[in-house]
Amino acid sequence: MRPWTTLGLALLAAALISSGAARGAPGAQGASPLAQQGARWAADPAVGDCGICHHLPGHDPRDQGTIGPSLSGVGLRLDEDALRALLMDARALRPGTVMPTYGRPATGPRIPPTLQGKPLLPAHVREAIVAWLTTLGHG
Ligand code: HEC
Repeated sequence: MRPWTTLGLALLAAALISSGAARGAPGAQGASPLAQQGARWAADPAVGDCGICHHLPGHDPRDQGTIGPSLSGVGLRLDEDALRALLMDARALRPGTVMPTYGRPATGPRIPPTLQGKPLLPAHVREAIVAWLTTLGHG
């Protein structure tokens, strides 16, 4: 095989692997479809974007934040109700945290008109992310 063909195949393989990581599939292997959707939404910069502050297991490590704790094993540390409450209103549970309030309606002069009165993440998105978080055990 010519060298450039080998290189091309290597690049293709790398692209396929990294696109799988970006979709969040590896972190949610064997998980329910809801949890897999939650993994994708958590990582998606246009939706949860949780990786801006957290290490998200199963996602590309080059694109991960360190402002918050790693979410590895969070499903062992916190139960489903605690995770749901945290995604509803992190500041009510952890006063002074920089984690945004995702579930309460956003109001105020600095909220864009399109988001006024709406939560940053709608309930169905938060539920999917909670389903994913509960799967995060070891690793
Ligand atoms: C602006 C940064 C920031 C963003 C964005 C953010 N978080 Fe957090 N998060 C934090 C910080 C900081 C903490 C630690 C809170 C504390 O204890 O003070 C935290 C804590 C948590 C915890 C509890 C972890 C533990 O071990 O106790 C979970 C779960 C969590 N975040 C999930 C999420 C999810 C899911 C998203 C995306 C929807 C998200 N976070 C977005 C900053 C962030």
